[in-house]
Amino acid sequence: MSNESLANLLKEERRFAPPAELAARANVTAEAYEQAKADRLGFWAAQARRLSWASAPTETLDWSNPPFAKWFADGKLNVAYNCVDRHVENGLGDRVALHFEGEPGDTRSITYAELLGEVSRAANALTELGVQAGDRVAIYMPMIPETVVAMLACARIGAPHSVVFGGFSADALATRIQDADARVVITADGGYRRGKPSALKPAVDEALTRPGTESVRSVLVVRRTGQETAWTKGRDVWWHDLVRRQSDQHTPQAFDAEHPLFILYTSGTTGKPKGILHTTGGYLTQVSYTHHAVFDLKPESDVYWCTADVGWVTGHSYIVYGPLSNGATEVLYEGTPDTPHQGRWWEIVQKYGVTILYTAPTAIRACMKWGDDIPAKFDLSSLRLLGSVGEPINPEAWVWYRKHIGGDTTPVVDTWWQTETGAIMISPLPGVTDTKPGSAQVPLPGIAATVVDDDANEVPDGAGGYLVLTEPWPSMLRTIWGDDQRYLDTYWSRFKNRYFAGDGAKKDDDGDIWLLGRVDDVMLVSGHNISTTEVESALVSHPKVAEAAVVGATDPQTTQAICAFVILRQEAAAAEAKVEAASADAEGDLVEELRAHVAKQLGPIAKPKRILPVAELPKTRSGKIMRRLLRDVAENRALGDVTTLTDSSVMELIQSRLPAASSED
Ligand code: WT7
Repeated sequence: MSNESLANLLKEERRFAPPAELAARANVTAEAYEQAKADRLGFWAAQARRLSWASAPTETLDWSNPPFAKWFADGKLNVAYNCVDRHVENGLGDRVALHFEGEPGDTRSITYAELLGEVSRAANALTELGVQAGDRVAIYMPMIPETVVAMLACARIGAPHSVVFGGFSADALATRIQDADARVVITADGGYRRGKPSALKPAVDEALTRPGTESVRSVLVVRRTGQETAWTKGRDVWWHDLVRRQSDQHTPQAFDAEHPLFILYTSGTTGKPKGILHTTGGYLTQVSYTHHAVFDLKPESDVYWCTADVGWVTGHSYIVYGPLSNGATEVLYEGTPDTPHQGRWWEIVQKYGVTILYTAPTAIRACMKWGDDIPAKFDLSSLRLLGSVGEPINPEAWVWYRKHIGGDTTPVVDTWWQTETGAIMISPLPGVTDTKPGSAQVPLPGIAATVVDDDANEVPDGAGGYLVLTEPWPSMLRTIWGDDQRYLDTYWSRFKNRYFAGDGAKKDDDGDIWLLGRVDDVMLVSGHNISTTEVESALVSHPKVAEAAVVGATDPQTTQAICAFVILRQEAAAAEAKVEAASADAEGDLVEELRAHVAKQLGPIAKPKRILPVAELPKTRSGKIMRRLLRDVAENRALGDVTTLTDSSVMELIQSRLPAASSED
């Protein structure tokens, strides 16, 4: 995109200074940037001292065999000890670790002392099942406390876990079990979703019929819903039988800092999923530090809530390891935001007095669509900090989030990172940075990121290119499980000695970083590179549009033509439904209005050729729009793989709208 259109995009730029009280008491001040700049490794060595080491590291980074990093390699520690035991030893046993809110409304508050007992029992149970340090354990669970306990129990005995999101199919589970060669699967009969029990165990049973899953000796099953559950004698064992009868004492063993902590699979656009490997000391150092710095956590008074599922890296780093290593009190919610009503999240914030909320743009936009009046019914005054992660947050949603959820006073931190980075990399610091809606802004202290052009030259302020990380960081992935070559090819081959994140980005005139989405999503229109994110952001800045997804469809004249799918705001959609019945022209008018709006915001080159109002967009369960499928639709192709879609009927709905669209061309 031209610099002129970037200037247009940024012209409405607003900034919000940190609230004075927050800045005055902030965990991290501007000094941290200076310290890290002066001595990056010394800075990380200091952050590692946040943890309790059984044997303190003397070495910080070993980068003698790049890009295979070793951090704190001669140190030894136990992750579960750091997340649980040490808080109890420090006299904080009565502090609540988890406020669990089940979707049906059942609740449990679990203190650190109780968590220690549970994790110890589960560690003993896994040991009884024959799990040893280094063995892999697959976890396929709903969002319940036992999931957190299971992860910590694995960490405690040095058995890397592979959490597979509970919404994935038996096939996806089987592939991940095979690739990791898992020895045990921990699951539940089911969980609650949208007001109903939703079974999980049948998918495990099915997965274990597939060849290559014979490595699984035992299936440990939590009873959550009480639904009928098929049972394989000799293999299946109930959590309440096995775990309950264990001793609540367990001595944690210290592991090498580079001992594998977990594998988490990310689905690439092609090929089999990549098992991202994270290890112990560096990972825990960075998740702990970033959680402390970016969320300004005051463990004695804050109530923190990250709405992600533990099946994603956000759940690993910012529900389990970051917050618990910091002794946080946090909310764990099982269900969906609109069950039984669209105010459920805000009701939970009010009930527990949540002070820090971390969620995703897709959820924020859903709440915008449902209407401002819904959060307005609840007391959200406890909130003092809001976070966003997962995709670029359009300025419109950022401002809405701050205003309608944050009472126009809370800072919003837009945090950029990836499964691969393990922890937050680019984000404002809430007590330091003047925040800008829509920008993740600055690399955290100790993190080196920049934007480069095709030839790996750093671009000047005001220009765009590819986001790269230029120095190793403690929580970086160590490799792709079982495939070092793929690790090299995927992340380290595009630019020499640079980690390429796969994202497009821009620096504004202040040098702040704006993420522009995956580079695979950049469109080429009449010789111009246009990012899908920018066009989406422009569309959503129109008052009638709640959400937008943009793709480039092959076009004989312009190489690619911009094709937009939009969800209208509730009021606009209702009006639209009425006029649509009366005349197809009315829809044409709205489409023209939106095209003109984008042209005005970004310039005529970015004007979508087609705009199609739809009721829903195809999304993965982590809320990312599946543009690949929309491209299939826009190019009139048969749909590709839809198995990771939340709701496969969405695509039928969208396709059924197509004839109307082609008449508008
Ligand atoms: C990709 C990583 C990080 C936890 C959840 C997603 C996109 C993530 C942002 C942000 C713009 C973002 C990037 C990144 N992304 N956060 N704040 N602004 N884009 O983890 O599934 O590994 O996805 O999500 O495209 O590469 P993931």
